[in-house]
Amino acid sequence: MTVSIKIRDYMERSSWIRKMFEQGLELKSKLGAEKVFDFSLGNPNLEPPAKVKQAILEVIEDPRPGKHAYMPNAGLLETREAVASVLSKDHGLKISGNQIIMTCGAGGGLNVALKTLLDEKDEVIILSPYFVEYMFYVNNHNGISKLVSTNEDFTLNLSAIEAAIGAKTKAIILNSPNNPSGRVYNEESLNLLGKILLQAREKYGQPIYILSDEPYSKLVYDGVKVPSIFRAYPHSLLITSYSKDLSLPGERIGFIAVNPQMENGREVTDGLIFCNRILGFVNAPALMQRILPRLQGISVDIREYQKKRDLLAAGLSQAGYSFIKPEGAFYLFPKSPIPDDVLFVQTLLQENILGVPGRGFGTPGHFRLAYCVADRVIEGSLDGFQRAIKKVCN
Ligand SMILES: Cc1ncc(COP(=O)(O)O)c(C=O)c1O
Repeated sequence: MTVSIKIRDYMERSSWIRKMFEQGLELKSKLGAEKVFDFSLGNPNLEPPAKVKQAILEVIEDPRPGKHAYMPNAGLLETREAVASVLSKDHGLKISGNQIIMTCGAGGGLNVALKTLLDEKDEVIILSPYFVEYMFYVNNHNGISKLVSTNEDFTLNLSAIEAAIGAKTKAIILNSPNNPSGRVYNEESLNLLGKILLQAREKYGQPIYILSDEPYSKLVYDGVKVPSIFRAYPHSLLITSYSKDLSLPGERIGFIAVNPQMENGREVTDGLIFCNRILGFVNAPALMQRILPRLQGISVDIREYQKKRDLLAAGLSQAGYSFIKPEGAFYLFPKSPIPDDVLFVQTLLQENILGVPGRGFGTPGHFRLAYCVADRVIEGSLDGFQRAIKKVCN
């Protein structure tokens, strides 16, 4: 036996997206990539904005020595201050560079936060549908995931969250805009959640932290805004990255911001910095940190994603699929026309369309389509979507 039993089990359980990816590769090698409509992965298809390349070239050409050296574990102060200055404006709060920790993407940030906060068997509330890695991340740090469903329309089910809170609850992970549903939680629901968590703090004597995972916060459509988690609740960490809004997922750059109103915020911040180090990240990539002060406020052209969303949404609804129109991110999460989402995803596969069954996100009866793909993929897939629904509904 080589790989641990636990990891073998996890690899098996987490394999939906990978399975689809592998089936897609097989199909592509058989038919040619242009004949396969691959909606399986959330890998942004837009190239980073031109200013990213320009900033990288400027940093590389800078003759000053030491740009690749080790640095403080929290990251470069210049970068943290640039991030804090934009956040202060966005949230209407005074946030300083000392409240920012640069991380290896949002995934790195979530692991750092969980490592910092969790004692053995502490509980973390995760809302389904969920980003599949959350449960592994919680387990990485000896926590227990407590799954709570959202409402039918994927809004927060506050009474279910309240019912799930107990003496061992240490944190709740929110993800808005949501992968896979595209839902953005509104201000009222976040304020109400904040009240529930403050009451729980009184009852159980310790704060419950919100880890607000927001890598899609700039990818929002139709004028929707992501409400400030910092204003809704003091014991909150904003965890995000430039993976999606600057199309830099392979560069592993993001940050954690600590709410300036957090009780014992300094201690939590020190813990986060220490955990960034001991998890072996040490610090976030230096070159990426150096380009960021020049790129604050910049993102890919979100109109491109909105166009793709509209194209896919129009085609799917014409074909008779039912779904909540996503307010953000780049995923559509339609209802499977038959209860068995795995079977339906196999039916789509017969049309050379790759999606992911909803059960991979803890929500069977749906399937996920990542529309961060070329327009021709969406256009070319629509007849297939129509045939697939007809096939199963006749
Ligand atoms: C909801 C969610 N959180 C976190 C991540 C990880 O992002 P990063 O690449 O910045 O680690 C992803 C990536 O797809 C995601 O969808």
